[in-house]
Parts: sequence; structure tokens; C-alpha cells
Amino acid sequence: MKIVVIGGTGLIGSKLVNKLRQLDHIVIPASPDSGVNTITGEGLNEVLKNADVVVDVSNSPSFEDRAVLEFFQTSTMNLLTAASSARVKHYVALSVVGADRLPGSGYLRAKMTQEELIRGSGIPYSLLRSTQFFEFAGRIAQAATNGNEVHIPTGGIQPIASDETVAALADVVIDQPLNAIAEVGGPVVMPMAEFIRYYLNATEDSRQLIADKHAVYFGVELDDTSLVTGKNARIGKIKYEDWFNTQLAKA
Ligand SMILES: NC(=O)c1ccc[n+]([C@@H]2O[C@H](COP(=O)([O-])OP(=O)(O)OC[C@H]3O[C@@H](n4cnc5c(N)ncnc54)[C@H](OP(=O)(O)O)[C@@H]3O)[C@@H](O)[C@H]2O)c1
Repeated sequence: MKIVVIGGTGLIGSKLVNKLRQLDHIVIPASPDSGVNTITGEGLNEVLKNADVVVDVSNSPSFEDRAVLEFFQTSTMNLLTAASSARVKHYVALSVVGADRLPGSGYLRAKMTQEELIRGSGIPYSLLRSTQFFEFAGRIAQAATNGNEVHIPTGGIQPIASDETVAALADVVIDQPLNAIAEVGGPVVMPMAEFIRYYLNATEDSRQLIADKHAVYFGVELDDTSLVTGKNARIGKIKYEDWFNTQLAKA
């Protein structure tokens, strides 16, 4: 199959490109650096010519409410129009577990807009919602930092190794369209504060962690299940501590 990976230079995109190439598919990573821009439309018709599958793993450069909504709205509309013209047979996108439950988050509202545009497009599709990647801990801490304090909710998170999200995504990409939403998540649900405490300790970060039930995660309070997978989800095996030790050993 010819598979185009939009955002193919990103964290997930670059790993997905490698994985699909190992399975002997023709895989084209696409991003602004390679002349494909989903916001301006540049290069989209050319790269999608004769494509069987398009996978959208792009991300907004800004997480500010209005910017992220504009990004996913414009980008998805342009990509769907080009995919429809190219008669792409399967449109796949990566979304976030709990996106439908947390409308108070500007980022997750934007992801829901992306999902709704895809579902209404008439193109056969698959949506995979993943929980947060282990690699995302630093960004969570950064967004929650005030001075030397990091204010993190105590609600649950079920973080996952991005390699395991990529493995699940690759399976979805090479299979028939689901025309539905699937989920993937990590093996352990823990308080978000515990996840970030581990990250700060392991990276010898001197910021002080404040665990607070009412602290917000990108604009929203969390309960124990807001970011947790449902019953039919695919569950990864890699635990955060083991993953972190492997990263330290590699470094
Ligand atoms: N972070 C999490 O924990 C998490 C959890 C669940 C789902 N997700 C979803 O996973 C997806 C991938 O995330 P990621 O962390 O792999 O993202 P990332 O590393 O930030 O990569 C984003 C990619 O999008 C590309 N891009 C940006 N603007 C573009 C444009 N206008 N046209 C085409 N490509 C553009 C970037 O290209 P350049 O390299 O040229 O900038 C890059 O290749 C996102 O949709 C996110 O919502 C994330």
C-alpha cells in the first residue's frame, strides 16, 4: 500500500513511518519541511496522488485555545478535501482518550472538532484514541508551572510508551477501516501527581510538586476516570519506571 503519514517527522509520525516501512509498505512522511502543509494546502494534492491510506499524526505548534482549534479545523478540512479528491480508501487519525469527556479543555475541544469532521466526511475512516505518552510528562509539568511550583491534579492518568501507541496505530492503518473509534492506553492508572513526581525526581528537577485535587490539566479539572480507557481498549505492557530506566541506560 502507499501510505502517507501527515506529521511524519513528529514523535509518533517518525516511529510510525519506520514501523510501516518494516512491513514493506510504501510510506511517505509529509510535513512542512518536505513541502506539505495542511494549513496552506501546499503539496497536499501531489503527495496524496495514488495513496491508499492517509494517517494524520500532525499536531498544532501552539496549544493556546484559539490557535489549536484553528489548526485542527483548517488542517483537517484541507486534508479531507484532498483525500476525497485523491479517492483515498482509508483515513486514519490519532486522537486522545477522554477527548469527548473534557469539553473544558481547548486542546481536547479541538481534537473533538477534528474527530467530528472526519466522521462526517464520508471517507472510510479509523480513529485511534491514545492516552498520554510517557514522553509528554515534561510538557505537562511545564504547562503547570508557576514560579518554582508545579501544580498537578490528583486525578487519574494511564500513560503509555509512545512505541506501544505506534504499534496499535500501525495495526489500525494496515487493517480495514473501522468507521469507529478504538482506544489504546498504558498498563497502569495512577494519580497524575505521582506520574509527574516520578518525572521530576528522575530528571533531578528542583521544582516543587504541589498535588492538588483542583489543579487543572490544560484548563480542566480531572476525576479518576477522565483520561482513562474504556473496557475494549488495547492495553500496553511497558511500565513507566521500566521505560524511564531504559531511556537513562540509552543516554
Ligand atoms: N502527547 C500525547 O500524550 C498525545 C496523546 C494522545 C494523542 N496525541 C496526538 O498524537 C498526535 C501526534 O503527536 P506528536 O506528539 O507525535 O506530535 P509532534 O511530535 O509535535 O509532531 C507534530 C508533527 O506535525 C507536523 N506539522 C505541524 N504543522 C503542520 C502542518 N501545517 N502541515 C503538516 N504537518 C504539520 C510537524 O512537522 P514539523 O516537524 O515540520 O514541525 C510534526 O511532524 C497529535 O495529533 C496529538 O493530538 C498525543
